[in-house]
Amino acid sequence: MTPPSRLHIGAAYYPEHWPEERWPEDIRLMKAAGLTVVRMAEFAWSTMEPSEGQYNFDWLERAIARLAENDILTVLGTPTAAPPAWLVTQYPATLAVDETGRRVQFGNRCHACVNSPEFHAAVERFVTAMAKRFGPNPHVIGWQIDNEYNRVCYCDTCRLEFQQFLRRKYGSLENLNARWTTAYWSQTYSAWEQIPLPIGPHNPGLMLEFRRFVGASYRRFQKRQLDALRPHLKPSDRVTHNFMGWFGGFDHYELTADLDLAAWDWYIGSGHNDPLAQGVIHDLTRGFKRKNFWLMETQPGNVNWAGVNNSLYMGEAHAMAWQAVAHGAEAVLYWQWRSALGGQEQYHGTLVDPSGQPRPFYQEAQWLAREFAAVSDLLSGSEVRAQVAMLHDYDSRWSIEGQRHHRDFDYVEHFTHYYRPLAARNVNVDVLHADQPLDGYRLVIAPALIILNETRVRHLKAFVENGGHLVLTLRTGVKDEYNALLPSRPPGPLAELAGVEVEEYYALEMPVPVQGEWLTGSSLLWAERLQVLRPDCKVVARYQRANGWLDHQPAITETTGGTGRVWYVGVNLDTAAQTKLITRILNTAGIPQIESPPGVEIRTRRRPDGEEIYIVINHNRSGTRVRLPWNGYEHIGKRPVQGTFELPAYSTAVLTRK
Ligand code: GAL
Repeated sequence: MTPPSRLHIGAAYYPEHWPEERWPEDIRLMKAAGLTVVRMAEFAWSTMEPSEGQYNFDWLERAIARLAENDILTVLGTPTAAPPAWLVTQYPATLAVDETGRRVQFGNRCHACVNSPEFHAAVERFVTAMAKRFGPNPHVIGWQIDNEYNRVCYCDTCRLEFQQFLRRKYGSLENLNARWTTAYWSQTYSAWEQIPLPIGPHNPGLMLEFRRFVGASYRRFQKRQLDALRPHLKPSDRVTHNFMGWFGGFDHYELTADLDLAAWDWYIGSGHNDPLAQGVIHDLTRGFKRKNFWLMETQPGNVNWAGVNNSLYMGEAHAMAWQAVAHGAEAVLYWQWRSALGGQEQYHGTLVDPSGQPRPFYQEAQWLAREFAAVSDLLSGSEVRAQVAMLHDYDSRWSIEGQRHHRDFDYVEHFTHYYRPLAARNVNVDVLHADQPLDGYRLVIAPALIILNETRVRHLKAFVENGGHLVLTLRTGVKDEYNALLPSRPPGPLAELAGVEVEEYYALEMPVPVQGEWLTGSSLLWAERLQVLRPDCKVVARYQRANGWLDHQPAITETTGGTGRVWYVGVNLDTAAQTKLITRILNTAGIPQIESPPGVEIRTRRRPDGEEIYIVINHNRSGTRVRLPWNGYEHIGKRPVQGTFELPAYSTAVLTRK
């Protein structure tokens, strides 16, 4: 794969919604806005194949060519999230079945079953035709497979596939029955055909496997498309899918393993960007392939699907785009270019309105495009480098989501609770899959890693033995990979390393005060009563008067034996105390931090030649003064900067040190 030479800005464009005579004007406006890329065709199946085997690709080729004449490159989407009416009528079993057993109605999106053999056949045939036609096209630089995978199907084919999936994994029913403790509530299976798809709550083992099965189904579906595409693509083409951030329907590490690039769609919906909480989603996406990613869609102003479709503040999307870049994005594309006159999304934000004229937002895109052009070369090939890793695990998330114990306990929120103070100190963070080796990091935070396996335990032990600083949090090490309780006290196989074990845990109806030498606060939602196992394990904080069981018991510990250090945090601290704790941990671990005024984010990307690029973003609605402890050069405005400089509302500075 050749690295991209350019920081792209673009939009989703649907020329099939418009008479061809209109295209030149749209393309003129795109060029004037400074767009460098469009994504097309991801919902155009009925236009490209109006009936089985009758292909109509000429219009798309003309659109690609006209755009290219104006220096705008193309990413094509395979249109498989919107199978046409003729297809689902001809092959009714391609339609998915919902949880209630009802066939999904045609006319929205994602209505197909991704395990349907008839759908597979139609997809392979169509994607092959599309790939043959456009794979060699020099103006097509990449492909998006399908669009935002999300449908879960409950048809008979899926049930049979699930049973086969389990059979392959467990080998025997005896094994499955034992792993899932099916003697419980008389669930013992004597034939694979008896195993259902879970509708609502079910056996925890089955629930976890079902999520894995959904991911495996999508992966197989995606692989079919990749196999159809790749023989026809140019070596430089990259294939991706537009994921949905924290969407938890399947394991994104599995899905991205076969792709060249990760991409995601960032929508705020109602309200506004919360930069300290949203940055982690970029880091999550970057972590899928441990490479820079694309922001394939983002909202130009407002969406149409939220409770209140308010507009972002003027400039806010500009700061958001830079935030994405600061966290590793190589491209930012707005969804969409222009509102179609009909269809379900008439009121969504766009760059051009139904009259064909630029909306006020268009100027903001223009502003961003100018800046991207100014620093594109500088940023080319640069990457985010982090000394801090946060470990992320879909299995643990699903396990907790299946049995929250406290209705407000949420894995993603808990994860973000640890991320926020790092973001506020402008610390780069890699969000890694929990099974990744941890060499090279100084601090690793593993929030609520409830499911442990041999790999992650080995890596965590090696990390601490090599001098690493590790933070384990509540609900760690409770379960095995089958979602069964471990026959040990949490954190199970990590207890020795942590020097501590959990005697009992409590879902809290009220906050419980926590007090230590340098820490005062309270625990919300959750509290674990810790038992110190080793003399080198210090109690950092204890519960104060609470439910009796917790009173004066250890709540947070720090173990210093060996070369590394392990904190066990059995509480879910209030925001102020959490900040205090994390800052202390950062300082102890010797992690460099950058001071910035509230709402100003400073991130670094490192160029291949080792030079650090500082991206300074003002997420505030008013201007502010930023002070850096060095002199540098600002590349957007092309001016030297001496320590302090003015950063207007929602604007960005891109600096290198002198
Ligand atoms: C995305 C989707 C786009 C468009 C957008 C509107 O989820 O991929 O096609 O519908 O939402 O916000």
